[in-house]
Amino acid sequence: MTNLLPYNTFGISAFASQFVEVSSVSQLQSLIKDKSFSEKPFLILGEGSNVLFTKDYEGLVLKNSLKGIEVTKEDENHIWVRAAGGEVWHNLVMHCVNKGWGGIENLSLIPGTVGAAPMQNIGAYGVEIKDTFEELEALNIQTSELEKFNNEQCKFGYRESIFKHDAKGKFFITSVTFKLNKKPILNTSYGDIETLLKEWNIVKPTIADVSKAVIAIRQSKLPDPTVLGNAGSFFKNPVIEILQFEKLQKDYPALKSFPAPDGKVKIPAAWLIEQAGWKGKRFGNIGVHEKQALVLVNYGGGTGKELIDLAYKIIDSVNGKFGVVLNPEVNII
Ligand code: FAD
Ligand code: EPU
Repeated sequence: MTNLLPYNTFGISAFASQFVEVSSVSQLQSLIKDKSFSEKPFLILGEGSNVLFTKDYEGLVLKNSLKGIEVTKEDENHIWVRAAGGEVWHNLVMHCVNKGWGGIENLSLIPGTVGAAPMQNIGAYGVEIKDTFEELEALNIQTSELEKFNNEQCKFGYRESIFKHDAKGKFFITSVTFKLNKKPILNTSYGDIETLLKEWNIVKPTIADVSKAVIAIRQSKLPDPTVLGNAGSFFKNPVIEILQFEKLQKDYPALKSFPAPDGKVKIPAAWLIEQAGWKGKRFGNIGVHEKQALVLVNYGGGTGKELIDLAYKIIDSVNGKFGVVLNPEVNII
């Protein structure tokens, strides 16, 4: 039995019957081929920054510790960088920013591993990994063969990919390749990036400046999981029909919206949760973060069951007030 408390950023105590750290693809292949493998459930774990353990895990936890970053190709304008699935995402971002390779700097300081990034097409500050994603390699658990997925095959969407649907539980992502820009095109239009760069008197920003700005903004809003247990946004921002939005806006003129595919709009879940009165509320060891209503927190000693019960109460309350159903972004185990 292994306590998973150090392996999830919520800091939840939950025991796994078996725990193996995977540090090579061949080790993973041998594990999968072993006939005892199919006898129990398995869970792939990166940094545990997007999971909530609601009970002990009666199965095998495979902790991804595959390491390595390499350049696989380059031309005059682009460079293709492949990173192993167990690399820490932010370390990859810093590696690329330091080399001057642009495209993922807006995704600075997102916790987690490279291998988990395609799962929900991680995104922040106007950028998603789908924008620079070239391909990934994943081990098919059934065949123990490596397979490649290109951008289209991953079916990326807002916090979505094929790995949350048709391919769920069928692949272990072993590496991801990004196509980055040697002549970076900056994306500073989202949120407070431009304001902050102006405040710092930076007239001609570099990708390192953008990365620094994103880090500063994130640190001012989001709790550091090493200090306060959390998994970032607990819910996705709801994507609703324009008609429903127009109706809501009549009653709530302050409600913001962002364009989404198929003529729909995305509305901020944090605003809905705050208006429903949950922001900063504490219930024993758990609560809703005081600076970001979309983030549920564990002050220490909280359980997954307590957090999921709170999440359901928030869903009911937001639905009752606004008629909008929130869906969790965090993977509930
Ligand atoms: P885990 O939590 O370990 O796993 C997540 C899911 O992916 C699980 O279902 C797991 O089984 C599966 N999985 C993990 N690795 C693999 C693999 N190699 N192959 C197949 N399946 C796998 N996310 C954003 O998109 N944008 C943000 O701005 C953002 N900010 C955050 C801020 C904070 C403070 C925190 C704590 C989280 C934030 N997140 C954000 C969420 C989180 O960082 C991402 O979802 C991240 O990609 C999770 O990586 P992980 O390695 O921790 O995955
Ligand atoms: N807002 C409130 N109350 C709050 C917090 C925010 O009303 O307590 C309002 C803000 O005023 C703003 C809007 O909500 O108008 C959006 O807030 P913010 O810019 O903080 O972003 P978010 O929509 O809450 C999303 C992602 C984050 C990502 C940021 C920055 C989702 C579910 N969350 O948050 O991703 O870092 O944008 O791009 O899409 C994550 O996925 O874990 C995560 C942290």
